[in-house]
Amino acid sequence: SPSLATTVGGVPLTSCVYNASGPRSGTAAALSKVCQSRSGGVLAKSATILKQNGNPQPRTYHAGNSLASFNSEGLPNNGIDYYIAAGTIEECMASCDDDSKPYMVSISGKTLADNLEMLSRIAKAPSLSKIKAVELNLACPNVIGKPIIAYDFEQMKSILQEVSSAMKDTPLKLGIKLPPYFDGPHFQQAADILNEFDGSIAYVASINTLGNSLVIDPHSEAPVISSNQGFAGLSGQAVKYTALANVRKLRLALKDSIDVVGVGGVASGRDAFELILCGATAVQVGTCHWTEGPKCFDRICQELEELMESKGYQSIADFKGKLKDWS
Ligand code: DOR
Repeated sequence: SPSLATTVGGVPLTSCVYNASGPRSGTAAALSKVCQSRSGGVLAKSATILKQNGNPQPRTYHAGNSLASFNSEGLPNNGIDYYIAAGTIEECMASCDDDSKPYMVSISGKTLADNLEMLSRIAKAPSLSKIKAVELNLACPNVIGKPIIAYDFEQMKSILQEVSSAMKDTPLKLGIKLPPYFDGPHFQQAADILNEFDGSIAYVASINTLGNSLVIDPHSEAPVISSNQGFAGLSGQAVKYTALANVRKLRLALKDSIDVVGVGGVASGRDAFELILCGATAVQVGTCHWTEGPKCFDRICQELEELMESKGYQSIADFKGKLKDWS
């Protein structure tokens, strides 16, 4: 059968489908189930320096069987020290039958100083060699009073300068989690900045949720989500089309040395296939993992293999980035 093997920023994955940071990725118990599945990697929830509970409940909502999902979680997580502790990584990875499956962390500091502090803790961690990549989340829409960093290009550039120099002497690969962009000049400005850090940035993961969506309950005449006045990040199958466009635009604008990982609305092998056609080297699954659980990775991998087989494709390279012109 066809091979789903790929690399993300130089890190080998036996399967190009793996979990997005966020859903079911906050504890070692949840991550060990990801590891047991066909997920090609194990990526932890975005960490802050200290453990935090996140925003008040209710803070999530699924509309139409996860065609559209909403969250205003506010980064509930166990704190960076938990995600880099030897015991956590062992518990996450013990159940994998694939020893080479990479473990990766995500950071989403409240300030640049917090991100630099977390990077320095990761670099000093006794289990550093077991952490293959750090995904820097510049796209969280749900921290009250904190705008989405990657929409502020000046701030994005100065953060990347500091972070890339802080990571210079570490073996870690740096990924950047991006928000969705919607306008041609914004894609270009983001790509121009990212391209200045080629060599430091191994990959971008595109897209995070569509920030500041609002779900209303006509009965109560109020928002469904309690925190942040009901404003929440939108994910699920509805955002696949925005993800496809973002992956396509970024793949065309970024230097070849920066991989693009596609994320947004992936719920089937077909969705993964389409993102790879647009230039993704791998695909992350968030909302579908949330609603279906870790068995989604087995199903999506099998569907992708079947689709590749029906087209006579043996490997990801056979169709990656090969979206055709309209005909
Ligand atoms: O939609 C999101 N929710 N994106 C993030 O980056 C963080 C998460 C949260 O915890 O609020």
